[in-house]
Amino acid sequence: MTTDTLTVTPTQRTAKHQHYLMCRPEHFDVTYTINPWMDPTAPVDAALALRQWEILRETYLSLGHTVDLINPVEGLPDMVFAANGGIVLDGRAMASRFTHDERAAEGQLYLDWFAAAGLTPAVQATEQNEGEGDVLRIGDIFLAGTGFRTSLAAHREIATFFSTEVVSLELVDPRFYHLDTALTVLDDENVAYFPGAFSDASLEILRARFPDAVIATADDARVFGLNAMSDGYNVVLSARAVDLHRELRARGYNPVGVDLTELLKAGGSAKCCTLEIRA
Ligand code: ARG
Repeated sequence: MTTDTLTVTPTQRTAKHQHYLMCRPEHFDVTYTINPWMDPTAPVDAALALRQWEILRETYLSLGHTVDLINPVEGLPDMVFAANGGIVLDGRAMASRFTHDERAAEGQLYLDWFAAAGLTPAVQATEQNEGEGDVLRIGDIFLAGTGFRTSLAAHREIATFFSTEVVSLELVDPRFYHLDTALTVLDDENVAYFPGAFSDASLEILRARFPDAVIATADDARVFGLNAMSDGYNVVLSARAVDLHRELRARGYNPVGVDLTELLKAGGSAKCCTLEIRA
């Protein structure tokens, strides 16, 4: 009897050095409800949130990335979610225009940081736009979410400002209200996503563009496993997204688990805490 053995050699992946902006959760809390995860009556452990965030920051530093910090401001409990502060590409910066009044003041603060960092031009979006929460770079295009926060008009404004193609994707499940809660950019070519978060038309776009995408389970999506930061090799994501860890490893990526359970109470995880500065 002969046994056929199939030896799969995982693709060689290369980590790219990245530059991130983060905001220490010194004033983090859940005091209002602007997404289905937020329950102001459920207690938040502020000290634990800080420790979990510090470990995320140290993880990035240990992987060799650069991490800058923006000062947290009292009364803005969601400011820790730096991904929502704007979009930076080729040294140009567009600060966000938030959907909800509770976060509106963050737009100016991120704009000020961009200007002080020498990013130019640095402008604030005129359309409803929640930055890298909804707008993810892959190769030389942006994938952009809409349906809950960032508008289609914002997608057009972004395409014009950055002179780049923007592919719009419609989100349909309120638990996955930002694109970065439902889709991870793994490298210049591939993504991981949770199909249940997207409209049928957007699923067709994803299937056509990314036939080899990693498909996440509902369980992994629920623990925000897709709210991940990849440098092309290391993928920093929720330690609880076990199937996703296995699938990434099989594809030659290096999943690095982090525990951000306190921040999940506000509807965020690793990627939400991280804005990429492409200077
Ligand atoms: N509570 C915040 C909000 O609803 C969470 C933002 C999470 N950020 C993200 N990039 N998905 O706006």
